Amino acid sequence: MSPGADQFSVLPRHIAFIMDGNGRWARQRGFARTHGHEKGVEVLRTITRRCVDLGVEEMTCFALSTENFRRRPDDEIDFLLDLLARYLSKESDELDELGVRLKFIGRIEELPPGCRADLERSVRSSSANEKMTLRLAINYGGRCEIVDAARQIAREVAGGTLDPAKVDEKEIESRLYEPMMPDPDLVIRTAGDLRISNFLLWQSSYSELYFAPSSWPDFTTADLDRALEAYQERERRFGSIGVDESSDSGDRG
Ligand code: IPE
Ligand code: IPE
Ligand code: MG
Repeated sequence: MSPGADQFSVLPRHIAFIMDGNGRWARQRGFARTHGHEKGVEVLRTITRRCVDLGVEEMTCFALSTENFRRRPDDEIDFLLDLLARYLSKESDELDELGVRLKFIGRIEELPPGCRADLERSVRSSSANEKMTLRLAINYGGRCEIVDAARQIAREVAGGTLDPAKVDEKEIESRLYEPMMPDPDLVIRTAGDLRISNFLLWQSSYSELYFAPSSWPDFTTADLDRALEAYQERERRFGSIGVDESSDSGDRG
């Protein structure tokens, strides 16, 4: 068993993080917002290590939303894309040592060509790592993802290769950015706001939600452990009745 994992009776297979509060953290300390993003990268490194140690299989981190990309000043977006490039080049050895495979979801095609090339390179070079997947959501929006899947379906229906009557949840899922991605078991949002902000709308239908008061730059492995302690107490029913009450496990599909 991984070090530390035995303190939890049940662990999420996939944890998604809404890494929020970088700007406020920096402003409260008299720094530029960008300093908060830099500190946030250090926290990402620490939390990634802890998740690997625990044996978590997948981590998905919201790094930049479609709304951030459209609505934030150009200099903040440029800084974030540059920070991402620095992260990818600096972390690649450590991620290889940890056995972490990198993936990206979002409207990657809208990013500048140099940035796209960096992402493609790091996906390729880490693809044989098998311990954990670290997925960064960049220029990602849950609504955009569903729109993109709907457009794809519309094209196939118009082209006569898809029967509208056959469109079901599986057909939609298979056209999301990463069709084989397991749904997150736990979504953790830092910095105290109680909302999803357009993250993994389809995939988080039955995720457990945990809101941490700490901003992302202050988020520690102890905060993560607290979220995991809360998670292990949750009863996930997926629309069924509680385990204590059920004798008939009938599933009508
Ligand atoms: C989260 O921190 C990181 C990104 C959105 C890129 P914010 O930049 O949203 O920081 P706050 O929420 O304004 O403090
Ligand atoms: C969500 O945080 C996006 C990321 C953490 C990357 P935001 O800061 O964009 O969310 P809102 O605007 O407070 O809802
Ligand atoms: Mg924010």
